[in-house]
Amino acid sequence: MSQAQSPFPTEAPSRPRIVILISGSGSNMVTIADKIRAGEIDAEIAAVICNEPEAAGIQKARDRDIPVAVIDHRGFTSRDEFDFSMMRTIDDYEPDLVVLAGFMRILTPDFVRRYEGMMLNIHPSLLPKYQGLHTHQRALDAGDSHHGVTVHFVTEILDDGPNAIQASVPVMDGDDVDTLRKRVQLQEHIIYPIAVKWFVEGRLAMIKGRACLDGNVLPESGVKLEG
Ligand code: GRF
Repeated sequence: MSQAQSPFPTEAPSRPRIVILISGSGSNMVTIADKIRAGEIDAEIAAVICNEPEAAGIQKARDRDIPVAVIDHRGFTSRDEFDFSMMRTIDDYEPDLVVLAGFMRILTPDFVRRYEGMMLNIHPSLLPKYQGLHTHQRALDAGDSHHGVTVHFVTEILDDGPNAIQASVPVMDGDDVDTLRKRVQLQEHIIYPIAVKWFVEGRLAMIKGRACLDGNVLPESGVKLEG
């Protein structure tokens, strides 16, 4: 029997589903969404979840017809309760990948364990340097010649999971936090879509605590791009 005569409905294979967590402007989320829309990443953003009701990223997601859930952490009495609610909402969207894109909450171990191996974060430093906040200021204070940004798998230690990809930029004479941040963000918008694409294509994985690309264990830095 030819395909055209088949009595069975032919369903298009479902695309990998991504849930993106944001707290702020959502520029990384937008870059990923726009690459998906342009057909450069074969995936679907199932939802954007935001903990800040006034975040600018919410409207940007809605403008792109992406479902948005707002879960204000201030409505919960404990971090556990908030994370439990987040997990329920995330799981409703059945994601293959959870993307933290400027999500400014510390995650509980239960939350991290639930999505281990399928959750990526972007951090504005050349990890393991400068975990935590104020990374641009710290790079300036230290007189570093280079600074940068890292996409890594999320594990239980803050900003410490294995690196997938890292881009470095020069620190220029006269730089301040703003000029440095802008230079780094240009790289963020290059490397996060690359990491997401690798993951949804099954090329990037966390195996035995190490980031692997095409089955090869990556170096500590992850893949390195020079900005
Ligand atoms: C980025 O600088 C990212 O490195 C950090 O938070 C910021 C988020 O920016 N984790 P945006 O909301 O994607 O514009």
